[in-house]
Amino acid sequence: MKSKFSKESRVVRTSRVFPNDVNNHNTLFGGKLMSDVDMIASISAERHSRSGTVTASTDSIDFLSPITQNDAVCFESFVTWTGKTSMEVFVKIIAEELRTGKRRIAATAFLTFVALNEEGHTIEVPKVIPETDEEKKLYETGFLRAESRKLRRVESNKLANFLTTLKPWDR
Ligand SMILES: CC(C)(COP(=O)(O)OP(=O)(O)OC[C@H]1O[C@@H](n2cnc3c(N)ncnc32)[C@H](O)[C@@H]1OP(=O)(O)O)[C@@H](O)C(=O)NCCC(=O)NCCS
Repeated sequence: MKSKFSKESRVVRTSRVFPNDVNNHNTLFGGKLMSDVDMIASISAERHSRSGTVTASTDSIDFLSPITQNDAVCFESFVTWTGKTSMEVFVKIIAEELRTGKRRIAATAFLTFVALNEEGHTIEVPKVIPETDEEKKLYETGFLRAESRKLRRVESNKLANFLTTLKPWDR
């Protein structure tokens, strides 16, 4: 299977912050940002695999600086690293003060998607060729993040096996 450049999966989107999108502190609601991050990252995953995908995990999302209604929110995402059927996607969220043009990193996120065929079975994905400094750094560190995902998955399955599905009043 032919490898693909990270830039081939790159997605760029800029949005405004509307009054409906803010929390009690008048800053962008985290849940709204998370939903946008998942949607944008899924486009990167599908551009890379050119197949259906599902989110297997949101590995991390770090909110570094609050975003206000005076900011534009710029999202950039691309596939950083792949396993056999899984793809790690990085999303960089930049807040731009519209009056001054000053830009800051407001949040960063890593998500993992799995490629599926029409029957819903997992399928192999192309490898990634990084080119820029950012792409290379994230590619080189991808293996370590994949290892910690594997460990977390084991722990997560153990916890799921331990948890009860009984209704609270039947326990
Ligand atoms: C994600 C999913 C397809 C994995 O299916 P599975 O039968 O467990 O597949 P496998 O064990 O063969 O794993 C397939 C790949 O997914 C990765 N993976 C599976 N679960 C994962 C998890 N929780 N976190 C990160 N990666 C995961 C595996 O490491 C493997 O990667 P690799 O092929 O690159 O080595 C399945 O668990 C699923 O459908 N989950 C629900 C997804 C969903 O509903 N998402 C929200 C809406 S899009």
